[in-house]
Amino acid sequence: MARVIPGSDEEAISLGDLVQALNDDGFDPGDEESFAAAAPLLRRLANNRDFLAELAIEELKDRCTRQSLENRDSSQVIMLHRASEKFYIRANFWPSERDSLYKASGNSPFFYHVPHDHNFSFLTVGYLGPGYWSEYYEYDYESVVGLPGEKVDLKYIEKSRLEPGKVMLYRAHRDIHDQLPADDMSVSINIMHATPCLPFLDQYRFDVKTCEIAGILNQSSTEALLALAAHQGHGNGRDLVETFAAGHPCERIRFAALRELAAAEAEPEAALERLAAGSRSSSEFIATMSAIEAARLSSGREWIARGSAPGPA
Ligand SMILES: [Fe+2]
Repeated sequence: MARVIPGSDEEAISLGDLVQALNDDGFDPGDEESFAAAAPLLRRLANNRDFLAELAIEELKDRCTRQSLENRDSSQVIMLHRASEKFYIRANFWPSERDSLYKASGNSPFFYHVPHDHNFSFLTVGYLGPGYWSEYYEYDYESVVGLPGEKVDLKYIEKSRLEPGKVMLYRAHRDIHDQLPADDMSVSINIMHATPCLPFLDQYRFDVKTCEIAGILNQSSTEALLALAAHQGHGNGRDLVETFAAGHPCERIRFAALRELAAAEAEPEAALERLAAGSRSSSEFIATMSAIEAARLSSGREWIARGSAPGPA
């Protein structure tokens, strides 16, 4: 499960102290041991019982101007610091099922009951309230292709909660949790690993009953723009999509480019030819997804040719 980093430090530091320490060149959130070594600093920030309320009040008095500029996360998040290219710090609110916020919004804004891994590592500490619950699992990312419905060897670890002062390191592409509501409104504070390649690293949703990948959670704007570029009038933009299909380092983007090139073909035969070439890719993800897309296209050919969908049986 996510790595619990024990400690009993009672010293308190300010947010500025934490930022200064993390800005040291020796801190490397891409290295597990370096990231874990920052755990006592995060615990000391959690020992500071005033800073978060003070910061929230300041933000409210300023009509949340900084949040509007810097917070790209959901509304359960207060961005605390975002200036470095390698990390950012945030606070997260975890309502209980009794809270009006939960009753109004339901599960989805809080990712409750959505088993998932993370495409980034992060350190977290329980700051307020009893803490959210999680059922923890682990898996081997290297043994997975990333296909929807693909079987995964999920290793169940335990159910536990992020109690006040408890520090955990969630390891990218390894730790999975099925996050469950806190028993009372709770707050956690995270140090997040920031990396420009994040949109191209897969984050999966899992079905823990069937031990399958249920889907890829993250999508980048690149995929939507590829669809537009492929269909751009007079073919302008098609060359760009061809370049992405041939050589983008992310296989999810390469397949998206191929799929949109196929979709932009005027004739179904040409689309199927493109997908047939994709199904011979050395990338198992691209090969399988191309075959699935070709099958989907083929299954609709008859009614496309007829000009109407089949009626009810
Ligand atoms: Fe999570």
